[in-house]
Amino acid sequence: MTYPKKIFLVGMPGSGKSTFGKLLADQLGRQFFDLDEQIEKMSGMSIPDIFEDAGEDQFRMFETYALSMITQLNEPALIATGGGAPCFNGNMDFMNQSGCTIFLDTPLKTIIERVTKDRETRPLVKKMAKSDVTADMTSLYERRLKFYQQAAFTSDSNMKEIISYLE
Ligand code: S3P
Repeated sequence: MTYPKKIFLVGMPGSGKSTFGKLLADQLGRQFFDLDEQIEKMSGMSIPDIFEDAGEDQFRMFETYALSMITQLNEPALIATGGGAPCFNGNMDFMNQSGCTIFLDTPLKTIIERVTKDRETRPLVKKMAKSDVTADMTSLYERRLKFYQQAAFTSDSNMKEIISYLE
């Protein structure tokens, strides 16, 4: 089976892009890349430190650069992008031109439960007052949806459905 050479997973933080992405990459027999991990390798800094020391704008520049580097690799790859990646610097158009994009449309309630649990490791969520996480995540989701909806395919992490779409 020939699948698209580059497959990009997009969706909110906590939607399961990394966990589900690894399983999907295994099923497709291809390498898995987590964009945040690539940014950390490239910059020699953790994501929270980049946000803290260099700021979000600098993070978005690293993110766009890392995305373009991974996309240039010759081998087939499945790339889990960070939640904000499709929403900056024309990255969504770039991904759509470079391969196949899949939006993991996990219910907002699940997303909020997950990010509330590991708030400390998530700079954007950490900035939100605890009592505002539900409202702030809802508004972030609403603002980002127009980007995520440009993906070629949308699924709530249904492996069979995604694989049959890719075929
Ligand atoms: C971000 C999501 C994070 C990470 C960074 C910014 C965002 O990735 O890239 O903290 O803007 O939504 P995950 O979606 O993998 O948590």
